[in-house]
Amino acid sequence: MNILGIESTCDETAAAVVKDGHEVLSSVVASQTDFHRQYGGVVPEVAARSHIEVVIPVIKEALAQSRCTWKDVDAIAVANQPGLIGSLLIGVLTAKTLATLRNKPLIPVNHVIAHTYGAYLGLIRPVFPTISLTISGSHTHILLIKSHDQIEVIGSSRDDAAGEAFDKTARILGLGFPGGPAIDRAAQKGSVIYEVARATLPNSYDFSFSGPKTSVLRLAQKLAGGDFRLSSLEIPDRLTERQKNDIAASFQHSVCLTLVSQLQKAIREHHPKQIIVAGGVAANGYLRSLLEVKIGQDVILPEFKYCTDNAAMIAGYAFFHTKLTAKVPELLTPNPSFQI
Ligand code: KG4
Ligand code: ZN
Repeated sequence: MNILGIESTCDETAAAVVKDGHEVLSSVVASQTDFHRQYGGVVPEVAARSHIEVVIPVIKEALAQSRCTWKDVDAIAVANQPGLIGSLLIGVLTAKTLATLRNKPLIPVNHVIAHTYGAYLGLIRPVFPTISLTISGSHTHILLIKSHDQIEVIGSSRDDAAGEAFDKTARILGLGFPGGPAIDRAAQKGSVIYEVARATLPNSYDFSFSGPKTSVLRLAQKLAGGDFRLSSLEIPDRLTERQKNDIAASFQHSVCLTLVSQLQKAIREHHPKQIIVAGGVAANGYLRSLLEVKIGQDVILPEFKYCTDNAAMIAGYAFFHTKLTAKVPELLTPNPSFQI
């Protein structure tokens, strides 16, 4: 079964054709990072307008690269939640129109859960129960997947998502956008020499990342020679390269340690047969090595290109969830929040 996936939840416009949930026939991603860099973060209106401009060329390119014609496409899948409403609207409207025009079933997909299915793009097959740590720019969840249709959120961030904390910390240090990869690079040149607060939430698989972020702000203000009143805009120029690298390394260590220890707790208590770590933050080099040291080689990570936003994971997820097919495609709506 060939599924055309469409992704537009945030600032990547993507389309892909995936066969039977595993074989990626094409995956095209148009990133808007260069547009948003000048603002230091994603500007929702700019993102929506940019999706409008490229969504059709991206879909055409994905079809061309897959060597499929519309006749070979069995269904269309679209990420309809969660995300920026303006961005979601473009993908959903496009998918609805194509499904109606081409008379194809339309499968709505939860973008965050789809990140986990990015691990199955290739040779890995699903085995249950699975524990998945899904860490993206706006969501941090531990999922207990008992079957494709029984997915429970057993832990979540109570405030900032892990990726959001990376992005905000990079901003404090003046490391640029997107923050995650910038912290990853800076940390490789630094050492873990500073104490960065870690929130431990006993009797729960939840997370809290606003503490580490504030801890970095206070540390950076102090090293920059100011107190809590020093504006974060003034900090980067007052820090040395070395201080920035060491703060990045210390922050990254704190966040990754929290992620891994909550995952370890979930593994101890649920005895999964498969462990997946997915989402943009799963691309982090330090996290990957910490996972190997603390949990071992059993942890499955999607390929780098399927960690960050892409449409192959949307089409892959849809293959296992065809029963979600919208009965009346015209009635499908985008939903900015996360709902299972
Ligand atoms: O999954 P994703 O591409 O988009 C969302 O669904 O949000 O995740 C984006 C997040 C951003 O916060 C980005 O800074 C972070 O993933 N990220 C990283 C790395 N690459 C991307 N965080 C840490 N280290 C990385 N190498
Ligand atoms: Zn994502």
